[in-house]
Amino acid sequence: MSEKLTITRPDDWHVHLRDGDMLKAVAPFTARQFGRALIMPNLDPPVRTVEQAMAYRGAILETVPDGTPFDPKMSLFLTDDTSEDEVRAAARCEHVLGFKWYPAGATTNSATGVTRASHIMGTLECMAENGVVLQIHGEVTDSHVDIFDREALFIEQVLVPIHREIPELRLVLEHITTTEGVDFVRDSNRNIAATITPQHLLYSRNEIFKGGIRPHLYCLPVLKRESHRLSVLQAAVSGNPSFFLGTDSAPHPRNHKESACGCAGIFSACTAIEFYAEIFEGMEHLDRLEDFSSHFGADFYGVDRSSQKAVLDKKPQEIPPSIECGHISLTPLMAGESLSWTFAGTR
Ligand code: NCD
Ligand code: ZN
Repeated sequence: MSEKLTITRPDDWHVHLRDGDMLKAVAPFTARQFGRALIMPNLDPPVRTVEQAMAYRGAILETVPDGTPFDPKMSLFLTDDTSEDEVRAAARCEHVLGFKWYPAGATTNSATGVTRASHIMGTLECMAENGVVLQIHGEVTDSHVDIFDREALFIEQVLVPIHREIPELRLVLEHITTTEGVDFVRDSNRNIAATITPQHLLYSRNEIFKGGIRPHLYCLPVLKRESHRLSVLQAAVSGNPSFFLGTDSAPHPRNHKESACGCAGIFSACTAIEFYAEIFEGMEHLDRLEDFSSHFGADFYGVDRSSQKAVLDKKPQEIPPSIECGHISLTPLMAGESLSWTFAGTR
């Protein structure tokens, strides 16, 4: 009999499910593995209010196959104009777990994001008072700043001052990619946490250019040099509860990725938990996978840990080179490669 790993059913604390046909194509992958997921609001137009988030949540639930328990948690798109009434409405809604701060222009569908930190300080204070969590895409957007330095600079110039001014604000630095990101989270108080993606654990920036340009490894924040990957990897397997799972699975149709100006985002939802199992096993810390994937995020967000279990088999699988959903073609992370673990279901 093959080796089995049974863990508390995991949660994905950062995922893009999109809308329309793409939502129908990708949501079942996330719902199959994860009991809950924090759904990013960068639709076009963005999901800015509790009312819009509840309508979006309803649309998500319609795509989930019958009998699959899945609880989408929503993040609202923060703007310079987000009102304190909206913050209080979010605090009252059990399905909304925070606001996402996209610096304007930082990434996909973020043009109407926050233009300056000084414009939202009142809103952030209101969030702190009401216990609402802030999710942050932590990159400066100034075009003169080197793309590989944008996270470190955001931490130094924006995040450190905000944390000093409002230390009680609970925030998640999303998809961390740098030693500076790891150090900031590890050395701050328990109000600060970070999500970690599979791609930033698996690859350094060299991989984007291996033998040619590989658009399916382009995401934001962009992959960094090997020393940063090793810092993020050590943080993930450290057992520190401030670091937890968030795939940042961000599907784009293949022709939008394989293009003269390909968009940022890596689709990893179909074998998400297997990527992490592989990585933790490679670090000889498979024993810490469950805390990272299923406990620490729930604890940070103040929701109960799942009462369900997820089972993984030590059974090799090939990741398909392509996933076809109607007229949409997606190229998953590690397309055509093999994994040694296979998700076997929940109970
Ligand atoms: C995300 C997307 O496509 O929505 N892309 C990405 O590269 N991660 C946006 C984001 O999280 O930056
Ligand atoms: Zn994202």
